[in-house]
Parts: sequence; C-alpha cells; structure tokens
Amino acid sequence: MTPTVYAGNWKMHHGPDAARQFARTFTSLVKADDARELWLFAPAVSLGALAEVLRGRPDVRVGAQDVHWEPKGAFTGALSIPLVREVGASGALVGHSERRHLFRETDEEAGRKVQALLEAGMTAMLCVGEQLAEREAGETLSVVRRQLDAGLGALRGADLARLRIAYEPVWAIGTGKVATPDDAAAVHAAIRAELAARDGLAVPILYGGSVNLGNALGLLAREEIDGVLVGGASLDAEKWAELVGIGG
Ligand code: PGA
Repeated sequence: MTPTVYAGNWKMHHGPDAARQFARTFTSLVKADDARELWLFAPAVSLGALAEVLRGRPDVRVGAQDVHWEPKGAFTGALSIPLVREVGASGALVGHSERRHLFRETDEEAGRKVQALLEAGMTAMLCVGEQLAEREAGETLSVVRRQLDAGLGALRGADLARLRIAYEPVWAIGTGKVATPDDAAAVHAAIRAELAARDGLAVPILYGGSVNLGNALGLLAREEIDGVLVGGASLDAEKWAELVGIGG
C-alpha cells in the first residue's frame, strides 16, 4: 500500500523558536507509521532548527518552500538546493500558486526547479492548479496539463521516483472554499493519466486548498487522492497531529 502523504506548508509563519516547539509537540503526539509520509515545508530560516529537533524522527521530512535551480552564484535573495540541503531539507515545493501569482514565477522556471531537485536526489512537490476565471471558462484541465508539461519537461519513468504533485485550485487556497471530493478526484484522474503517459503511475497526487479536520477524511476517502497539502490548518501542532491521525 502506498503511504498517505500529509504535508504542511507553513508559508511565512513560524520562526526557529516556534518551529522547534512545534516539532517537539507534534512528535510527542504522532508516532512514526509506514502508512504515512509526513512533510513540513517551513520558512528557510527555520529549516535548520526544525531538522535539528526532528533528527531522531526521519519519518517527519523537512522541506523548503522554494529553491533556485542553480547550485550557486550571484542570485541575491535566492536559496540553492545545496544550501537548503545543508540545513536539513530533503525536498521543496515548486510552483506554489503564491509563487506563480504573487511573484510571477513561470511554468518554465518551475520546470527548471523540478529538474534540479530530482537530479540532486531531493523530493520535488510540484504544485499545479487553475484560477477561478480559468475554472469558470472550462479551462481547468488544459491549465493543469500545461503546468505539468512545463514542470516535468522530458522527465519520465525512474526520474520521477521522488516527484510528488499537489493539485491546488487557486480559488480554494486560504479561502475556505474547498473543492468537492468529486471535483478534485476528476482533476486528479486527469493528472494521473498524464503521469501514466510518462511511466509515472506511482507518483503520489495530493490535494490542497482549505483542507482542514472537517473535510480531509472525505477527500482522502477518494482513491484518486493520495494525500493533502495544508496551509492554515498545519500551523498548530496539536491540530496538525489530529489531522495527520485521521486515517488511523
Ligand atoms: P490553505 O493553503 O490550506 O491555507 O488553503 C494550502 C496551500 O497553499 O498549500
């Protein structure tokens, strides 16, 4: 059985002290379990503190929220894969909708980041998803396919072993408007078909966008949905432990 993936995206919350406290509380409440894959995508300044507390808990993986594709150089303000790896990250989000829409990151940049992460032996969690106007115009699947095509480039088969996809409709992020399990499952099935064409059938596909304790079980009950990427509801260690425990 493939593990259910529970990924917390802290966005611009939790400095090193709060991250340490979170990790201590969370690990006291949640035991390691092969049926789960756990991720915390923390602000870059907190990665080291988080990884230090989680040293004895390799089942709770630490990830960056973004990386640059170049390993080093004159890129003021950016973080390379070797830099985040050195402080304990084993993966990163790529192309989160806030990066795409607030910081104008392109499909092509997401592709370079995915490629660089996978080449470095790190996990890439590629985020895709349509905006409200695109959904209303019936463009959901074409937008998601475009983002996947650019994000994955020529990657296929064994290259994809460390890839995860997160489908996050932009209109559902931080808005309290969650996609119905049926809507999400339909997009997941289309993503699965794209991955199958690249021999990547085993790639986990997460849903994200206003996931909380009240709706997570309904989403995860769908066989198309392999996990959840959660922002707001991942910030409190006790509540996050409860959400991670819903599957038993
Ligand atoms: P949300 O964020 O759970 O607060 O909607 C999800 C995300 O942006 O990954």
